[in-house]
Amino acid sequence: MSEPLIIADNIERMISADEIALRVATLAEEIIQKLPHDLMIVSLLRGSFMFTADLIRAMHIAGGGSVRPQIDFMTMASYVGTESSGNIEVVRDLKEDVEGRDVLIVDDILESGRTLAFAKNILNERKARSVTIAVLLEKPNKRKVDNINADFVGFTIPDKFVVGYGLDYANYYRELPFIGVVTIN
Ligand code: IMP
Ligand code: MG
Repeated sequence: MSEPLIIADNIERMISADEIALRVATLAEEIIQKLPHDLMIVSLLRGSFMFTADLIRAMHIAGGGSVRPQIDFMTMASYVGTESSGNIEVVRDLKEDVEGRDVLIVDDILESGRTLAFAKNILNERKARSVTIAVLLEKPNKRKVDNINADFVGFTIPDKFVVGYGLDYANYYRELPFIGVVTIN
């Protein structure tokens, strides 16, 4: 895949589009080897839209058509108010019933773990049969919530603010085909 010729000069490349594509393909293989093929995929918007779109196509290719996931979306947000209150709310809920389903949560990045802990808890309360987590990125040593881990991780990255491939800064840069670090000048 060709890289864009012109990029914003305050974004330093961290993971190229080719590296992402290769990793998404192997991640899809790991997922279909370990999980049932009739998954309910819960994609956490907005950051994971691009990863989810690529991952489910890679799962289809890796599974040779044996994989038949259903897809739904959920949007979470931190409460407006005191910063780092750590409270999460559901802004847009699922349309599908997850009771009895094997759910795979797909998110862009695992940092404090609050978002994923909250999402996992909701799905367990709704009696999902199993809840597994796949994230594209993970920042280690940033966890604020104990016992939340991703079962499938694309890349472990340094503790830097990254954008691209769905991840944003003020809702910009989601369109970048690579992951980069924003350097605030
Ligand atoms: P957590 O609840 O702290 O694990 O936060 C995860 C959410 O914070 C992600 O789903 C992202 O939306 C956002 N986030 C965390 N780190 C970054 C980053 O480096 N770039 C862009 N968004 C980030
Ligand atoms: Mg997010």
